[in-house]
Amino acid sequence: MTIKKVLMCPPTYFDIEYSINPWMDINNKVDKAKAKKQWDYVYNILTDLNIEIEILEPAPGLPDMTFIGDAGMVHNKKFLATNFRHAERQGEVEHYIKWMKENDYPVYEVPKEVYFEGLGDIVYFDEDIIFGYGPRSSPEAIDYVKETYPELKLKGELHLKDESLYHLGLAISYIDKDTLLYYPDAFTEESLKFLRDNFERRIECSEKDAKEYFVCNNIPIGNNILMDNCTEELEAEFTKWGYKVIKTDMSEFKKSGGSVRCLILSI
Ligand code: ARG
Repeated sequence: MTIKKVLMCPPTYFDIEYSINPWMDINNKVDKAKAKKQWDYVYNILTDLNIEIEILEPAPGLPDMTFIGDAGMVHNKKFLATNFRHAERQGEVEHYIKWMKENDYPVYEVPKEVYFEGLGDIVYFDEDIIFGYGPRSSPEAIDYVKETYPELKLKGELHLKDESLYHLGLAISYIDKDTLLYYPDAFTEESLKFLRDNFERRIECSEKDAKEYFVCNNIPIGNNILMDNCTEELEAEFTKWGYKVIKTDMSEFKKSGGSVRCLILSI
């Protein structure tokens, strides 16, 4: 599941039309031209880094479709579709399923009473995955992930406690196979203890990095890490570990509570 090929959805209809997380304020509208520029910049960097990109056409009336990382998850060409907690986003799913069917990805679904928000609540590196639940995905969703992908290795199930970091992908990420970057206060005490006890290579980031720069919502590709921005301290830390930070301003997407990682679905 290292990133080689991704699906992206241009922000044509992206805006703040409802509020389903603390970042979204319907009076704080998206500058669409700027959003398109920021999205194009990410698209071009990914292309330069030899990532293959497929495009899913956005649909009017579904302003969050550009966050296609939340569409579900794909591994070994099997698609496990999202079941959004909020009605506002549920209409997106049929578009994702349609694309997957047309492109020969077998489609799997969770029962309707189980919420599952795809790569919003799954972080991974190769075969290793960590699942998160709380504000969005239901704890039981992991059973369907395991059933769909018995080949994946579940390394942890984490309980999120901060409503502003409502998706696991806003709170933690793999930087490489053995290294995790996360914001400690996003997790319950038990989950934080689990992380500290079970993972040796850990970078714990500051509140500013987590909530102003959304650093955990990054895309690591080889020695590069794409992210909105980060503090000098954190950048120095990455340099020490051999990483180069590529800053991709995500101001428009952060208005909706998402950053660069949410713009791609690894396929
Ligand atoms: N407005 C979207 C929502 O609240 C943003 C989703 C961003 N994606 C993410 N994985 N955080 O659902």
